[in-house]
Amino acid sequence: MFNVDNIRKDFPILQRKINGHPLIYFDNAATSQTPDMVIQSIVDYYNNYNANIHRGVHTLSQEATDAYEGARLKIQKHFNAKKSHEIILTSGTTHGINLVASGFTSLLKGGDEVIVSALEHHSNIVPWQMLCERTGAILKVIPISLKGELIIEEYEKMLSEKTKIVFVGHVSNALGTINPIEHIIKKAKEFGAAILIDGAQATPHIKPDVEQLDCDFYVCSAHKLCGPTGIGMLYGKEEWLLKLPPYQGGGEMINEVTFEKTTYADLPHKFEAGTPNISGGIAFGIALDYLNHIGLDKIAIYENELLNYATKKLLEIDRLKIYGTSTKKTAVISFNIEGIHPYDIGTIIDKLGIAVRTGHHCAQPIMDHYNIPGTIRASFSFYNTKEEIDVFVKAVERAKNMLL
Ligand code: ALA
Repeated sequence: MFNVDNIRKDFPILQRKINGHPLIYFDNAATSQTPDMVIQSIVDYYNNYNANIHRGVHTLSQEATDAYEGARLKIQKHFNAKKSHEIILTSGTTHGINLVASGFTSLLKGGDEVIVSALEHHSNIVPWQMLCERTGAILKVIPISLKGELIIEEYEKMLSEKTKIVFVGHVSNALGTINPIEHIIKKAKEFGAAILIDGAQATPHIKPDVEQLDCDFYVCSAHKLCGPTGIGMLYGKEEWLLKLPPYQGGGEMINEVTFEKTTYADLPHKFEAGTPNISGGIAFGIALDYLNHIGLDKIAIYENELLNYATKKLLEIDRLKIYGTSTKKTAVISFNIEGIHPYDIGTIIDKLGIAVRTGHHCAQPIMDHYNIPGTIRASFSFYNTKEEIDVFVKAVERAKNMLL
């Protein structure tokens, strides 16, 4: 049974008051909150076995290495990667995308084409623009409809023998639209193009099976998944990770160094230069244990109930418009009230203890599509409740009445 009251007890921060009001945290798409068992895993690491990994013969180093590599195995299992060395631990989604985009520099030439979608976060646009500047490749953009869905027929028309890589988000951070990535991957493969999926916003709600999806790369961040900031993962198919050059040089990523020539370490270490975020990696594994214990399928069903409830309640407010009306959405509602700047609503409801994100959500092309400067974005998680939504809707109405 999914018991939200019990689940809420796992999150110490949910006891906080903000401006004298109980915290209502609806900014989960920016970062999720952290359950106590994840926090304690970090405390335990620093209290009991803080040491550098892969480097020491001493007990602490061995314990830290085992815990860190154990986390990699949990991540491999969670995403169903064939091999543990196909999981590269990164500092987050942005790091993973930049690693791949940088690696493609030597694989592209002028006139090659790469495809992005208009629904992307800036972190899945700018690294590819930089790649195109370096190589002379051409960036093509899959357009979106008024509902905030990708226009798949346009994507299909764009694909050709010239397409070298396609990169799309699994779920839009600004609108919550779930993209038909299975179809997008299949079509890219028909033209021999590589494909990267940005899973930052999908992984808190959906358990992707990279083997079944048959994507070449899948990236995500632990901090959206009840884990800490500064750690994430890049899944890459072995054949691609062998082909791409290292992203950063340094300790740990080498086999042998001389001034004449350096040879690189085997996967995954080739892409993991320097001392990593050790406690973060271990805590990432614990966060996956936590989510799997509850069950992502149950989480998705409950969050969908919250989404439907909040959508209905918000639409009862006069002059309120929701952006992103796909029937396939995660629990994200982006909206505006006619005549009011999103920032003003966000500021007033913060005084009432409610956290939402306002602005362009690092997705300016989507805001341009709707011809707006930004939105108010409420994003729900499995520890939120309908009672919180009631308080939120009343607060939005109150802010509206103050501002109009
Ligand atoms: N990418 C995060 C968001 O959508 C920060 O808010």
